[in-house]
Amino acid sequence: MTAAFEVLEKDIGGRVGKLKIGDKTIRTPALLPVINPHFQVIPPKMMASWGVEAIITNAYIFSRSEEYREKTLIKGLHDVLDFPGVIMTDSGSFQLSVYGDVEVTNAMTLSFQEKIGSDIIVPLDIPTSPDAEYNVAENDLEITLSRIKEGISILPDSATLAAPVQGGRFLDLRKKAAENVDSLDLTICPIGAVVPLMESYRYLDLVSIVKAAKSGLSQSRCVHLFGAGHPAMFALAVAMGCDLFDSAAYALYAKDGRYLTPHGSYHLADLREFICPCRVCSSHAPEELLKSLDKEKLLAEHNLLVTIAEIKRVRQAVTDGVLWELLDERCRSHPSLLSAYREFIRTDKSIYKSEAVSKRRFFYKGSEHCARSEVIRYHSMLERFSIDEKVLITFDKKGDRDDGSVFFFKPPFGPYPPELRETFPIGQSEIPTWDEDMVRTGAKGLKILIQNNPDSKFTIRCDGNWKTMIEEEISPYRANYEII
Ligand code: GUN
Ligand code: ZN
Repeated sequence: MTAAFEVLEKDIGGRVGKLKIGDKTIRTPALLPVINPHFQVIPPKMMASWGVEAIITNAYIFSRSEEYREKTLIKGLHDVLDFPGVIMTDSGSFQLSVYGDVEVTNAMTLSFQEKIGSDIIVPLDIPTSPDAEYNVAENDLEITLSRIKEGISILPDSATLAAPVQGGRFLDLRKKAAENVDSLDLTICPIGAVVPLMESYRYLDLVSIVKAAKSGLSQSRCVHLFGAGHPAMFALAVAMGCDLFDSAAYALYAKDGRYLTPHGSYHLADLREFICPCRVCSSHAPEELLKSLDKEKLLAEHNLLVTIAEIKRVRQAVTDGVLWELLDERCRSHPSLLSAYREFIRTDKSIYKSEAVSKRRFFYKGSEHCARSEVIRYHSMLERFSIDEKVLITFDKKGDRDDGSVFFFKPPFGPYPPELRETFPIGQSEIPTWDEDMVRTGAKGLKILIQNNPDSKFTIRCDGNWKTMIEEEISPYRANYEII
């Protein structure tokens, strides 16, 4: 079976693409709901009717189940689960790392997954705990890599073998793991052992780990974030370059009476209204659902429907070039997500390089947006403008040929020639009332222009309110400008 990943659209570090597994194709970013054959509240076929193109289940459960083992070996996974789309099987590494089991080997799980007709096979990787020490993480990583290689050598067809990136909390190990995995030329590369981080809201650590792993993987790898199923984090994970997610959250939260939304979860008992338009919420009131015998099933349905909707929303945002706006909204729903978002904006500039140069709009939503990719790109463009010896920078948009090169000013970008007024990002940016951060960032743009044109003399006609701030930024070049 072949595996190929094609990127169609990009925004920030996020991609909309197509993952082809044999003759099946799924759109990415994709959500793979986790299926437990013993406790399946929503039939996979019903999920397919909601737009689910791939699911994930646990080979370990099948191999241990009296009810399912033989049946699945004979009929195959797709028949038993009644799902025609892509089925990924996990090796159960995670369960083994928690419960321990000496009887399962890498070779056993690989050949079992192959025999039951899995579309994406996962080796018995070792999910190193984020608390583990360096030497443990390093050793686990070696074992994981050797098991991936063993998979390549023993599977008759290893193109759809997933190659997990481990390395615990150590960023150099994550990067090394990713580089090693990348060299094996397998299409699907999951980032593993991040569940404990997400469970304890350590999104800041998650950002560093994903960044380190991504830095070692080529753009053509389809990256799965193992165990990430909460819709509030999809925008961030996609912005960092993750393409596949698996959700057990929809079912686990339902079991616990919790109601998922893309901006956090609620206890059903705390809700007075269902504002969600899904089929469950539009036909029940919270107190009714709370008393229903089908509570868990109905709640799981709602949880999965909102999770699917969020994946679609993220895909649409990438297509429209408005992922920054969605990201901003989502990451304000939890303080740890906000910290992670700020860390992501602050440090990761390299991933911007591949995004679209022109987008539908730029909607400034607060000071974090001063560091958006579009601002960074615009500032690097300012280094290359060719201008006259005489330059007028005017905030009032009035200037003529006698003034030399004329630039208007739009924060957070900075100076722009009037010809660019209709082009992205100047033209398509929606900027509310100017605030200090955006003007300061615009002033940094101005500084770049002055700095790169030492032979030009600048006259800056700026609004009195901002004069001091502009001057603070550009004062090292005092000899080259006057502010009027
Ligand atoms: N599920 C969640 N995390 C992991 C992981 O690191 N490896 C595997 N195989 N499954 C997982
Ligand atoms: Zn709903």
